[in-house]
Amino acid sequence: MQKNDKTFYITTPLYYSSGKLHLGHCYTTVVCDCLARFKRKDGFDVFFLTGTDEHGQNIAKKAEEKGLSPKEFVDMLYVDIKKLWQLMRISYDKFIRTTDDYHERAVQKIFEKLYDKGDIYKAEYEGWYCSPCESFWTESQLIEGKCPDCHREVVKAKEESYFFRLSKYADSLLKLYQDNPEFLQPASRVNEMVNNFIKPGLVDLAVSRTSVTWGVPVPFDAKHSVYVWIDALSNYITALGYESENDSLFKKYWPADVHMMAKEIVRFHSIIWPALLLALDLPLPKHVYGHGWLLFGGDKMSKSKGNVVDPYFLVDRYGLDAIRYYLIREVPFGNDGVYTTEALLNRFNSDLCNSLGNLVSRTTAMIAQYFDGNVPHQSELNDNDKELIDMATGCLDKCRAAIDSFNMPQAMSEIFALVYRANKYIDENTPWALAKDESKRERLGTVLYNLIETIRFIALLISPFLMNTAEEIYMRLNKGEVPDNFDSLHSFDGMKEGDKVTKGENLFTRINVAKELEELNKIL
Ligand code: MSP
Repeated sequence: MQKNDKTFYITTPLYYSSGKLHLGHCYTTVVCDCLARFKRKDGFDVFFLTGTDEHGQNIAKKAEEKGLSPKEFVDMLYVDIKKLWQLMRISYDKFIRTTDDYHERAVQKIFEKLYDKGDIYKAEYEGWYCSPCESFWTESQLIEGKCPDCHREVVKAKEESYFFRLSKYADSLLKLYQDNPEFLQPASRVNEMVNNFIKPGLVDLAVSRTSVTWGVPVPFDAKHSVYVWIDALSNYITALGYESENDSLFKKYWPADVHMMAKEIVRFHSIIWPALLLALDLPLPKHVYGHGWLLFGGDKMSKSKGNVVDPYFLVDRYGLDAIRYYLIREVPFGNDGVYTTEALLNRFNSDLCNSLGNLVSRTTAMIAQYFDGNVPHQSELNDNDKELIDMATGCLDKCRAAIDSFNMPQAMSEIFALVYRANKYIDENTPWALAKDESKRERLGTVLYNLIETIRFIALLISPFLMNTAEEIYMRLNKGEVPDNFDSLHSFDGMKEGDKVTKGENLFTRINVAKELEELNKIL
């Protein structure tokens, strides 16, 4: 199976629909959204998948506590998650729920296929049993030797279970990492997988439970339900119609170009998932990327961290683009980042307000003042102009290189390098001084043309990341909708002489950080 090179299939993990999502959860999805939007504008036929994990004991228990059936419960929660992605303007193409009937049917077929092939077999699972919770736990799941849920005593017990022959695939996995160093990124995660999990010996994986009833029933043995990973991981192919009447999306988009996730679930995606795919004779995803965590420990500002990292609170208070910008720019990709509201506000002030906002308001104000709001004529260019123009026209390639290596902060910093350069260009050319000398009017026009055209470049380049800002800039340039492709970034002549531009307030209102932190301390 050879898929078209111009397709791009990107996935987030499935979100557990059992709790409130915080800013850290938004990180994976916002990153994927930026990648998806960038690729679409860069001419790719993108399929961006997200969804919810809706089976398992925890869900069943929480539903019972609320006097609801598990299905009623997940139906409620999944609406919350969809609402959050709406708030963050996540442009997914499909939202899969593991309770979707087509997914459940496909999971059963996958299970059966693996069983028929001999890669799933029945045996006994030995673990620790908590009778009040009716749950089996592995040694490592116990907390101080007790049930991690209710903290009561557990007893050693056996449960009949189906196992997936994971051990059989150890050599193939080692070969996969060796032959495709790009498969698992960042590279540090490869050593972690090899040294901590594969080399010590892979053990076969229990893939069914008799004690968990809220799950997909094993088709040929209904007292078992499919346990976690076959159900959850296979969403990446069932969402495309694998093992359904219509698998045209699967044929078109599989294998995935990238599965994106935070580091704690890399193991499942880079060991279990490729092993399952090998067992199913399916091509493997091109990349698995495990980013770091967004940590909240460093925030001394508030006692109740809950609200500080509530995406609704943050978006309402500072605007969506401030939050998206912070997530993309501030967290070193692949590593952990510590969230502080102070860092968010400082980024907002220095980059968005002082640099980008100022560039747009200064330039449009000068065009209004010196040329009645009409884009002036661009005449002869000097070396200083050419340097700015080269930087603008070269920026897309630099962003693309950063995006292709999944380096989001780098892509952002390439665009902001252009913003800083344009601000410096204003200081170097001092349009206000040129305006005082009628003989320099042509030069003044050229300088302002170069600036407003650079702003158009910047707006289009940031549009996959900061959609609201890009839309606002396009409105001020009176250019209509932000284009859905980057075609107009090939030449530096998108703004036409005589085009009207509208001056306005700074796109972002500067925040007094000390005052704001004090205010937050009072209200949170
Ligand atoms: N349901 C599983 C994934 C199954 S995939 C087949 C799961 N769900 S989750 O809701 O707990 O997490 C969803 C995503 O959010 C994961 O990538 C997870 O690692 C990520 N994050 C959760 N907290 C996070 C931070 N504090 N920082 C960054 N990412 C975080 O895992």
